[in-house]
Amino acid sequence: LLTSVCIPRHESTYKHTREDEDDTQTVAEIMARCFIPTLITTSSWEGFHFVGHEIRITEATDCYGAVVWPSALILCYFLETHAKQFNMVDKNVIEIGAGTGLVSIVASLLGARVTATDLPELLGNLQYNISRNTKMKCKHLPQVKELSWGVALDENFPKSSNDFDYILAADVVYAHPFLEELLITFDHLSKEVTTILWAMKFRLEKENKFVDRFKELFDLEEISSFPSLNIKLYKAMKKKSEASNKRN
Ligand SMILES: C[S@@+](CC[C@H](N)C(=O)[O-])C[C@H]1O[C@@H](n2cnc3c(N)ncnc32)[C@H](O)[C@@H]1O
Repeated sequence: LLTSVCIPRHESTYKHTREDEDDTQTVAEIMARCFIPTLITTSSWEGFHFVGHEIRITEATDCYGAVVWPSALILCYFLETHAKQFNMVDKNVIEIGAGTGLVSIVASLLGARVTATDLPELLGNLQYNISRNTKMKCKHLPQVKELSWGVALDENFPKSSNDFDYILAADVVYAHPFLEELLITFDHLSKEVTTILWAMKFRLEKENKFVDRFKELFDLEEISSFPSLNIKLYKAMKKKSEASNKRN
């Protein structure tokens, strides 16, 4: 279980206990949270079990954000099994590249005040999944909002009103041309107190380069690793400015 992967030493530091150990059992446990309906219905959906709820996700077939990616399952499982350390209750949370919305739904079911974001063409299906799975089940009804990385950030997410405790991201780094814009977006949305929880699937060399760039702006900590899926789970926080270092 992920809980055996990360042993808290103090609030923000983690020690890996089974770095090279076979992760098959954990991955099997996570993947078992997914099921397909046994009855043929008029609308197609995929089911997931998280936080004691059955979550029904409708997927589309026309774009990257239209299916649930394994990184999303890893992040959902982590949020569920680490709900004490990363308490979501009443926290302000934004998910970028939310896709079908599973991660945002799980964060909402855990009590967070969530804003789920993605490209405009994804928002219809995202809103549908979020409404279907959170109405009457969540303390705070999640919002769905357009956020195209690097675009109109000052207008749509003014720094002065950004107050996010957490930024969630699953599988947002791959062969797309907006990696610099993605980095700008992480930077724009985060304050020094914001925690980024980011599930990252490694496919190409490009991804390693992004991690290096990311480390220039953020303190990055690997909190879990799934070698069989080439997925790592990271926690990150903005590097402290010199001014705030001097203050402390
Ligand atoms: C591989 S999918 C991951 C979806 C979801 N997080 C998951 O893990 O199931 C990548 C997501 O990033 C979004 N995305 C890609 N480029 C984007 C951009 N320039 N601005 C905002 N979102 C973008 C896609 O629409 C998609 O939802």
